[in-house]
Amino acid sequence: MRLSKEQLHELISKKLHKAGLTEDHASGVADVLVHADARGVHSHGAMRVEYYAERIAKGGLNNNPDFKFEKTGPCSAIFDGDNGVGHVGAKLAMDEAIKMAKENGIAVVGVRRIGHSGALSYFVQQAADADLVGISVCQSDPMVVPFGGAEPYYGTNPLAFAAPGKDGKHITFDMATTVQAWGKVLHARSKNEPIPDTWAVDSNGESTTDPFKVNALMPIAGPKGYGLMMMVDVLSGILLGLPFGNKVSSMYHDLTEGRNLGQLHIVINPEFFAGLGSFKEAISQTMQDLNEIKPAPGYNQVYYPGQRSAEREEAYERDGIEIVDDIYEYLISDVVHNNAYDHKSPFAK
Ligand code: NAI
Repeated sequence: MRLSKEQLHELISKKLHKAGLTEDHASGVADVLVHADARGVHSHGAMRVEYYAERIAKGGLNNNPDFKFEKTGPCSAIFDGDNGVGHVGAKLAMDEAIKMAKENGIAVVGVRRIGHSGALSYFVQQAADADLVGISVCQSDPMVVPFGGAEPYYGTNPLAFAAPGKDGKHITFDMATTVQAWGKVLHARSKNEPIPDTWAVDSNGESTTDPFKVNALMPIAGPKGYGLMMMVDVLSGILLGLPFGNKVSSMYHDLTEGRNLGQLHIVINPEFFAGLGSFKEAISQTMQDLNEIKPAPGYNQVYYPGQRSAEREEAYERDGIEIVDDIYEYLISDVVHNNAYDHKSPFAK
């Protein structure tokens, strides 16, 4: 089923409002989910709505959070999300980080006690839209084997970066530190498709292609990806005084409790370094340079990070966003949720 951005936004907002969110917060979550679907990151789009709706309905997301923002220094601050929806908390915290970086050149804002915040590209692009460099990292539930381990310890701990070029184009790099995000496994499940044998392990710690047998994910690039996910956990967990490592709450463990997750935004103002004009000029030049690199056999061209997502967004803008039929049927139905996620287990079945 193909839907326009506006149609998808309305369906998601209505469902989340019906589950119990205020209209304002429901719309804020829909902004981030539609952003993800529109960029082809379906693992973090509309397919998450039913899970959020179940958590909202069961009280594991605070419908009426008391957001608090406290500056702790000229360039540092803490945003407390009171276990409301992470998408809205992380967006508001980035709004504040942008104001601080405009004034002081740099801002580091810790986002404490939020729910899942979705695709981090949304938040770093807020910074790039404001002519700033944005970096964001966040915790995620422990489901990744550390290098050499047979049990999960870290989350899929994503990191994202965006930098503005000329003409409103950005370089946007946004990835889980696992070979694939957990949502990609969920996407494979929703389509009943196998996964590559490099993504995940089963309960024996052996690699599996069956998305339903996944018991832990694998970090990217062995010990290097493992080191990156450690860094993300230190910055968005330990630095903010939050639970860390395998003490981070699981997405599917208890849908009645807030998750107390952490995220960290770092915003840098190029005006305080190379100067905004020459920075944007050079970012655009690097995009062009990359596009002009001779492609290797089997590749049509070299893309800069985020380019294909931006092109997909343009195509979807024109032709509509492709949404899996089951998800569309759920969105248009009267059902709030089907009690499908509260398995008291780290892994949804
Ligand atoms: P991905 O593997 O789809 O893409 C990773 C990066 O590689 C992107 O920046 C993309 O633009 C770039 N890329 C892909 N193909 C390329 C090509 N041919 N040329 C140049 N660049 C290319 O991303 P992944 O790891 O599956 O993550 C998906 C989303 O999941 C992200 O938005 C991430 O923030 C989100 N996530 C959120 C979590 C949370 O707890 N909030 C946890 C884990 C992931």
